[in-house]
Amino acid sequence: MTNDVRLRDVIDADLAVFFEYESDTDAVHMAAFTRKDPADREAFRSHWEKILASPAVIIRTILRGGEVVGSVLSYEDSGRPEVSYWLGARYWGQGIATGALRLFLAKVDTRRPMRARVAKDNAGSIRVLEKCGFRVVGQARGFANARGAEIEELIFELLGP
Ligand SMILES: CC(C)(COP(=O)(O)OP(=O)(O)OC[C@H]1O[C@@H](n2cnc3c(N)ncnc32)[C@H](O)[C@@H]1OP(=O)(O)O)[C@@H](O)C(=O)NCCC(=O)NCCS
Repeated sequence: MTNDVRLRDVIDADLAVFFEYESDTDAVHMAAFTRKDPADREAFRSHWEKILASPAVIIRTILRGGEVVGSVLSYEDSGRPEVSYWLGARYWGQGIATGALRLFLAKVDTRRPMRARVAKDNAGSIRVLEKCGFRVVGQARGFANARGAEIEELIFELLGP
């Protein structure tokens, strides 16, 4: 069931839940481009305090049936908006990320073109983007902390309106 997916502003109590999701070993491997030490709670908190205070970042908590299941956000890279999202592993495979990203793009951040970057082997995230209308516009190589190596990433773009 994805029709009960909602977005709301982030509250302080969400951060402990996001930390749990964003330090999960499988999720970190999948996302690849992560902080140096995903298990460092202090680094996590100071990163989140910074992005919550940044006027260039728009973040929402994803709720499903009242439960905090993850987050979706946009930030700017060289002035261009890009989206990212992260769900708790126990909620994967239920269409929640697709539903949450659709809502975010329709109601929260309607700027276009909107971009996204994803590790080339992150099949779940690639599918989410494709289902939301993004298309590949480029490719790059970048150092992925979670892999300890440079890997390929795909650059996706969603055109408007
Ligand atoms: C990537 C992520 C957000 C996907 O969330 P999700 O809620 O499972 O995605 P959805 O259920 O909306 O799935 C959308 C599509 O992707 C497919 N999919 C999901 N996970 C997949 C996987 N691991 N491998 C292949 N396909 C996958 C689904 O089958 C579905 O496609 P379909 O409708 O054609 O069957 C989630 O796995 C996650 O948070 N991962 C860790 C963080 C991360 O990688 N964030 C993205 C950084 S770019």
